[in-house]
Amino acid sequence: AAIRQEVETAPATCDGAIESNHTGYSGSGFCNGRNAVGAAAQFTVNVSAAGTATIAVRYANGTTDNRPADVLVNGSVAQAASTFDPAGAWTTWATKTLTASLTAGSNTIRLSPTTAAGLANIDYVEVETTGTPPPSET
Ligand code: GCU
Ligand code: CA
Ligand code: CA
Repeated sequence: AAIRQEVETAPATCDGAIESNHTGYSGSGFCNGRNAVGAAAQFTVNVSAAGTATIAVRYANGTTDNRPADVLVNGSVAQAASTFDPAGAWTTWATKTLTASLTAGSNTIRLSPTTAAGLANIDYVEVETTGTPPPSET
């Protein structure tokens, strides 16, 4: 099952403010990052086994411009300048899906914007690990 980590809930961090003025978010709010390069949101997720994970980032971008961000897993860039495409309204929430390798136990997932516009507004991440398939019965 997917693990959801809300950005407004510790141990997640938001270099900016947790806000709730644009409806449609999950939980109690979203991260409005400072509009600056490197003003990041970071999540910590625990997975039981190492492997490839699907990381779904829920975000809103009410501008007409992409808000790219490097995705760092445990401090290393897993995906550079991942796109967070515009949707025209801050109340329109979208999902960006990434894949990355995670280690067993605690992992950090950091979204670090690469332009002065900063991050899109970030709601949560959902992490799904690809489990080892059960042995087939013969
Ligand atoms: C507006 C909007 C914020 C958003 C900001 C931005 O101020 O209300 O939620 O974060 O634009 O451009 O980053
Ligand atoms: Ca912002
Ligand atoms: Ca949220």
